[in-house]
Amino acid sequence: MSELLTIENIGVTYGNIRALHDVSMHVKEGNIVCLIGANGAGKSTLLKAIVGLEPLVTGIISYKGTVIGNSQNSNSNKRRLIQLLNFRDKKKLHHGPKSLRTDEIASLGIAMVPEGRRVFADMTVEENLDMGAFLVEDEAMITKKKKEMYDFFPILGARRKQKTRSLSGGEQQMMAIARALMASPKLLLLDEPGLGLAPLIIQDIFEKIAIINREENVTVFLVEQNARMALKLSDEGYVMENGVIVLSDTSQALLENEKVRAAYLGE
Ligand SMILES: Nc1ncnc2c1ncn2[C@@H]1O[C@H](COP(=O)(O)OP(=O)(O)OP(=O)(O)O)[C@@H](O)[C@H]1O
Ligand SMILES: [Mg+2]
Repeated sequence: MSELLTIENIGVTYGNIRALHDVSMHVKEGNIVCLIGANGAGKSTLLKAIVGLEPLVTGIISYKGTVIGNSQNSNSNKRRLIQLLNFRDKKKLHHGPKSLRTDEIASLGIAMVPEGRRVFADMTVEENLDMGAFLVEDEAMITKKKKEMYDFFPILGARRKQKTRSLSGGEQQMMAIARALMASPKLLLLDEPGLGLAPLIIQDIFEKIAIINREENVTVFLVEQNARMALKLSDEGYVMENGVIVLSDTSQALLENEKVRAAYLGE
């Protein structure tokens, strides 16, 4: 399996607070990878860094071999950039490529469903889906994708003309996922899709995520506080504490790991 997303030694700060420190992760194409960690661990910050919403103070993020995030000020990056870019002349490299903008990153095939869903509450379901397709120019494609979404999430089809604020939390989460899928991403980043939802609804949403992964060949990077469900769904997992990755393994091994069981699975 080839590597789709590579995060190497990244750091992110908010003023004097270091939110991420020397974080490295590898997401293989076709996999579901999860990131678990307590409140404030830095999970959302990591997703924001991937899509270019938080600048890097150290490290590199690359997607299919293209540098999408680069701190541009760290000497330790240089050797790696030379490898990545197949660059020969060290002196000419300077600091390497600039980080891409969020819209440029989206157009490469990365979509994010942000924490708390962030739906446009006063718009209808259909208008929300249209917003998700803002990078798609082909009208016929937009119509086709909407039909696919209504088939896949029948409740959204039934509510397409309804204002989003009238949907339940679970329905809004499905809509946020459908909105992200409108752009036909290759990599879907999900920030706590289960937040505030009942376990049965989370189960429903996770089943949909598994189908999207398996049948549409979308690679998934899932951030979740519900560690047990996230590890059961995913192939590989990472554990973050205070902005640092403290453990990474196959999800099966993490489910059996003593430390994970005690700290995250309540056993
Ligand atoms: N815009 C910001 N300005 C200052 N500090 C921030 C900002 N956003 C996040 N932080 C801080 O950075 C740290 C990591 O926050 P982050 O939101 O990434 O955590 P998280 O793992 O997503 O938490 P949660 O599970 O509660 O969503 C926290 O200490 C948080 O207070
Ligand atoms: Mg968060």
